[in-house]
Amino acid sequence: MIRLTVNGQPHTLDADPDMPLLWALRDLLDLTGTKFGCGVAQCGACTVHLDGQPVRSCATPVSAADGAKVTTIEGLGGEHPLQKAWVEAQVPQCGYCQSGQIMSAAALLAETPKPTDAQIDAAMEGNLCRCGTYPRIRAAIKRAAGVA
Ligand code: FES
Ligand code: FES
Repeated sequence: MIRLTVNGQPHTLDADPDMPLLWALRDLLDLTGTKFGCGVAQCGACTVHLDGQPVRSCATPVSAADGAKVTTIEGLGGEHPLQKAWVEAQVPQCGYCQSGQIMSAAALLAETPKPTDAQIDAAMEGNLCRCGTYPRIRAAIKRAAGVA
């Protein structure tokens, strides 16, 4: 049994310890905001927070979350400053990468509330966007951080 807290809710999962955290979130807990992109820790679409740190849930076994706190895009609640800025800056195109983008940005702002461009680039470089929304992502992060 895997015991973890997801978005503030405790859960006990009867799951193979090697199951990717992504599948546990999507298939066992019905939290489908976190996306499957590459499956090999290369694109960032599956980014969630594990005890506050951004991780690639496709490449993280659910056993690594035993006793831990997980936050997904659903856990930001819709009124997070980044989510508001994302809407105001009209960031998404197809949208597929965007929950992972926001989760990486949320981890950045939790650690560094007023990031520089270089800090934004460093935090976000592993999150790919096939639609090329990078300039608007950066603008939205700066808007949310109050450094626009
Ligand atoms: S789906 Fe996990 S990094 Fe691409
Ligand atoms: S908005 Fe389409 S992949 Fe990023």
